[in-house]
Amino acid sequence: MSEETAPYGTGAAPSGPPARKRIRTHHLREMKQAGERFAMLTAYEQYAAQVFDEAGVEVLLVGDSASNNVFGNETSLPVTVDELIPLARAVARSVRRALVVADLPFGSYQASPEQAYLTAVRFMKEAGAHAVKLEGGVEMAPQVRKLTEGGIPVMAHIGFTPQSEHNLGGYRVQGRGEAAKKVVEEALAMEDAGAFAVVMEMVPGDVAAEVTAAVSIPTIGIGAGSRCDGQVLVWQDAFGLRTGRMPRFVKQYADLRGVLLQAARDYADDVRAGTFPGPEHTF
Ligand code: KIV
Repeated sequence: MSEETAPYGTGAAPSGPPARKRIRTHHLREMKQAGERFAMLTAYEQYAAQVFDEAGVEVLLVGDSASNNVFGNETSLPVTVDELIPLARAVARSVRRALVVADLPFGSYQASPEQAYLTAVRFMKEAGAHAVKLEGGVEMAPQVRKLTEGGIPVMAHIGFTPQSEHNLGGYRVQGRGEAAKKVVEEALAMEDAGAFAVVMEMVPGDVAAEVTAAVSIPTIGIGAGSRCDGQVLVWQDAFGLRTGRMPRFVKQYADLRGVLLQAARDYADDVRAGTFPGPEHTF
């Protein structure tokens, strides 16, 4: 019998415990009601998605942060629907339990509820996403309503919204002082329009807590303190693949860049020294 080896990058089936029940939007709401917190991470490809799913992370976001974490752009603005769909498809195909949410990129939904619907449908049909996320508050209520009435679960994103960074004058905490009221109004408008959850980015902790108490849908914080129903981080920040100045709200759980750098150096040294491949790697 001839030897059979797995082709490289064969995409081995996810390992770990048997498939648990798929997380649905109503599970997140039930968790809020039961006072249980949940975790969300970004994911942009197969292996990270499998690992996070196996770790029990409830929600994976194929964020438009792929723009500056995958595609090498400086901001989230340039990434396109056609660039994000293959990433969302890879993540959706790779998980067994997590709820997969795809971000609608800048310019793909703001023009009208119809534009938003057509874009969201592409993520649901072509990528197999389970839900979509869009940025904005009261002004996005018609979009959220159109999507949810059309069968597409929507996660809202308020507070600091990176797609509007030029309008907001850069990366700044939103909702300080008088502006706190506006954050609460935005969240209530999103709930009223049918959003199943709301991300709050860079909002003071006490304001985020007020929003969490005011809405019945789950709140998910990023730089919004601990009194949210869930938390989200960009995985390359949380696990140390990215270097450079980190926002204060990031906790670094690993130094993956260090591990990868050392592994790549060891490999290159072995190749140069002729110690790789060894007899055990040779047919
Ligand atoms: O695109 C993204 O990664 C996000 C998170 C920061 C919530 O929107």
